[in-house]
Amino acid sequence: MSGRLIEVASAAVDGQQSHDEKPFPLVLECCPGNVEQNSVHQWIRESRSDLDLKSREYGAILFRGFPLATDRDFDRFVTSFDYPNFPYQESLSNAVRVNRTERVFTANEAPPHVTICLHHEMAQTPIYPSRLFFFCEQPAERGGATPLCRSDILFERLKLEFPEFIADCETKGLLYTNVMPAENDPTSGMGRSWQSTFRAKTCQAAEERLQGLGYSWEWLPNGCLRSTTPVLPAVLAVEPGRKTFFNQLIAAFHGWKDSRNDPTKAITFGDGSPLNSQSMDEVARIAEELTFDIPWQAGDVALVDNRVVMHGRRTFNGTRKVLASLVAMDA
Ligand code: FE2
Repeated sequence: MSGRLIEVASAAVDGQQSHDEKPFPLVLECCPGNVEQNSVHQWIRESRSDLDLKSREYGAILFRGFPLATDRDFDRFVTSFDYPNFPYQESLSNAVRVNRTERVFTANEAPPHVTICLHHEMAQTPIYPSRLFFFCEQPAERGGATPLCRSDILFERLKLEFPEFIADCETKGLLYTNVMPAENDPTSGMGRSWQSTFRAKTCQAAEERLQGLGYSWEWLPNGCLRSTTPVLPAVLAVEPGRKTFFNQLIAAFHGWKDSRNDPTKAITFGDGSPLNSQSMDEVARIAEELTFDIPWQAGDVALVDNRVVMHGRRTFNGTRKVLASLVAMDA
């Protein structure tokens, strides 16, 4: 691929996988030289439909060696794709985040020792982004990789090894229950307050939003809100013959733990029947086996198709600045 002023070539990276003879992730490297931001912008504009196709096909693209250093550079990179923005304020995400620009925010404010388990972004809500961009402003001293897992490959493995479990996932769907605090709790990976989540100043306003979304709920004595989603699918058909394990099962079962939430109560099948913790351990084990860790370097950008690939966050030491930007579903 070549722009008028820049050269971009596919490259290899440690730990890169191959599925159906396609690398995962696809790595596109900008060849060194005096590359200007304008040239990058122009290259993306010329290549964006091809890049979009590739992100779906390969699941994720890692862009390396592009001249990007700041949140504004990242914003411009993302904006060049011309995707519709998915603003954090309007999302029902339970992570606490801080906006840097209109479409760029910190990936998750959870402390370094907290592992964020593999998940599809906001698959536990009826409204989720189609694609995600991550940008490494500053890699951690140690650790802090973003694990990625091809969810279509995981689905095929699970179908072979646990056909009954997968049949239950497909036919019953899932219910997610989450206790949200009255105030943002930055010590938790899921500490976003109910006011912020539902953009509601009062309990009544929150209830109206919950009702509109088909949630059930209960107010707790300490001002927290326990809410349960409507039945949401556990499997997504992304194209004919290609399904993904599109849910937050692993994260909810293994990671939705804080002072308010007990992971064993966070998730059930759509008919209210419990999940078997042994099979959940197996699911998490197989997903981990299929995981690629992005070895972040400053300036890296990853474009992840949220319908095809799960992501998470490894623990780390030192300061880690990874920013994110979300893309709305296609109109
Ligand atoms: Fe996430």
